[in-house]
Amino acid sequence: MCGIVGYIGSNDSKEILLKGLEKLEYRGYDSAGIAVMNSEGVHVFKEKGRIADLRTAVKPDVAANTGIGHTRWATHGVPSKLNAHPHQSSSARLTLVHNGVIENYDILKREYLQNVSLKSDTDTEIIVQLIELFVNKGIAVEEAFRKTLSLLKGSYAIALLDSQNEETIFVAKNKSPLLVGLGEGFNVVASDAMAMLQVTDQFVELMDKETVIVTKDKVTILNPEGEEMSRDPYTAELDASDIEKGTYPHYMLKEIDEQPLVIRKIVQNYQGSDGELTIDKDILNAMSQCDRIYIIAAGTSYHAGLVGKQFIEKMAKIPVEVHIASEFSYNMPILSEKPLFIFISQSGETADSRGVLVSIKELGHQALTITNVPGSTLSREADFTLMLHAGPEIAVASTKAYTAQLAVLSILAEVTARYRGLKINFDLIQELGIVANAMEVLCDAKEEFEEIAREFLATTRNCFFIGRGIDFYVGLEGALKLKEISYIQAEGFAGGELKHGTIALIENGTPVLALATQESVNLGIRGNVKEVVARGANPCIISMKGMETDEDRFVIPEVYEILTPLISVIPYQLISYYAALHRECDVDKPRNLAKSVTVE
Ligand code: F6R
Repeated sequence: MCGIVGYIGSNDSKEILLKGLEKLEYRGYDSAGIAVMNSEGVHVFKEKGRIADLRTAVKPDVAANTGIGHTRWATHGVPSKLNAHPHQSSSARLTLVHNGVIENYDILKREYLQNVSLKSDTDTEIIVQLIELFVNKGIAVEEAFRKTLSLLKGSYAIALLDSQNEETIFVAKNKSPLLVGLGEGFNVVASDAMAMLQVTDQFVELMDKETVIVTKDKVTILNPEGEEMSRDPYTAELDASDIEKGTYPHYMLKEIDEQPLVIRKIVQNYQGSDGELTIDKDILNAMSQCDRIYIIAAGTSYHAGLVGKQFIEKMAKIPVEVHIASEFSYNMPILSEKPLFIFISQSGETADSRGVLVSIKELGHQALTITNVPGSTLSREADFTLMLHAGPEIAVASTKAYTAQLAVLSILAEVTARYRGLKINFDLIQELGIVANAMEVLCDAKEEFEEIAREFLATTRNCFFIGRGIDFYVGLEGALKLKEISYIQAEGFAGGELKHGTIALIENGTPVLALATQESVNLGIRGNVKEVVARGANPCIISMKGMETDEDRFVIPEVYEILTPLISVIPYQLISYYAALHRECDVDKPRNLAKSVTVE
């Protein structure tokens, strides 16, 4: 979702800001803008649409060493140039970008700003106008900024310029991600280190409710009481090539292809010096001592949680419930006596999941976060973290993070089982190696998946994904992948559930993608395929070697049965990718979606 960048130094800031915004494009946005400041004042450029549109709007002859930039994903007010950030106060002295949602903006507007004529429909404009209101009462900008922040309810990451102070960017954060990057003779601000890797790999994390005074030579972090905090920077361990597409036409395709490597990397990272898979003792104690695990996640990560439940229950024999984060806050189930919460989140920033984390921490429960982003909010605020080691996932549609989540969950389940003295009758390291090899075979079969996409999905209005047991969960993920990037109405169903209603939707030619990878339900799912074919459906069965029949469209290599979701999802990822391509959709940046969903 919204992304922020800022630069203060001796170079022209425009190109650094624009390049930074390009690196944040993956988060999802519908408008963008920058404000740059020089001795003549602040110059604001903004546009609805892509950064490329903003680039053409930026005047090349305006040179300025200080600036802030923003990509906006609309929440309050439609996507438009007017609602795009930066927003300015009435006198244009103050200019501000904001990521997050101000929940009490309407109350603040009524209470403080009746006499101010607002230009946009955004909650953000309230912030900049409030700061100016206090400045007009004789309060210094820094103090007015802090006074305004104390009135805000909700989430924010903010960067503020004062046209009367060319030497400073004022920064603050609460619940929304924001980092300060350090350089020689310059400093930067970014929602994500990726945006500013172009100039530095040294970053400082900010805590909620801190404010920061950033000049080109100094970064001063102040806690809510106004006391100066000292904090060491960390090195962002990102390789610039990790965030480039290279020769790939899309990040999504690159990330699909990276999956075998990611699985091998995960095994390496979780292998101890004795060659065994290993997990931090504190996590194993928490797993062993709990009487029930509650997995909390959203979207693709929720689908990974459904498979993770199978891993943990079957291997470690601990009961697991899986909950959609956005529902859990309102419908908290009766919790067991000793619950352990596992948050699965690629970004580690999903606001719905974080909302649950905050409430269960208030209740005194323990939490483990499984994430791809070190230092992310969910990682910092949980008791324990397990990393995915998948490398940056840039395409909005999650692919390698999903399979990485499954791999890490399988390792967690297996190591916990052994820690609890349970017998595991297979070698997970070896089986994950077989999975990685099978993934390679599937990634090499792109042409066949392209053909399936053309044949089944080029013109269809809808599509169904069916499966039983673990294949059903992969079907849910397949349907999500297809709908989010190709805009085809796609739904995943449990095969046995069709006859209870859904089968009414089957018409002549309706594509039905079915997975048959589980011996125990093979006959059942094939029976369900027959039912839909009898009603005119166009079936595409993907089965696992050893279970194939003549009617199957594709046979995936055999892997250890419980691990099949790690590979059976790849045909669905690739079919979705090619369906989106055929339909000329923007594969990496699908409409209306954001990568990091930082609003509830
Ligand atoms: C779909 C997708 C989303 C995310 C969801 C949760 O491809 O990426 O459904 O899985 O928004 O995001 P994280 O995992 O970052 O919490």
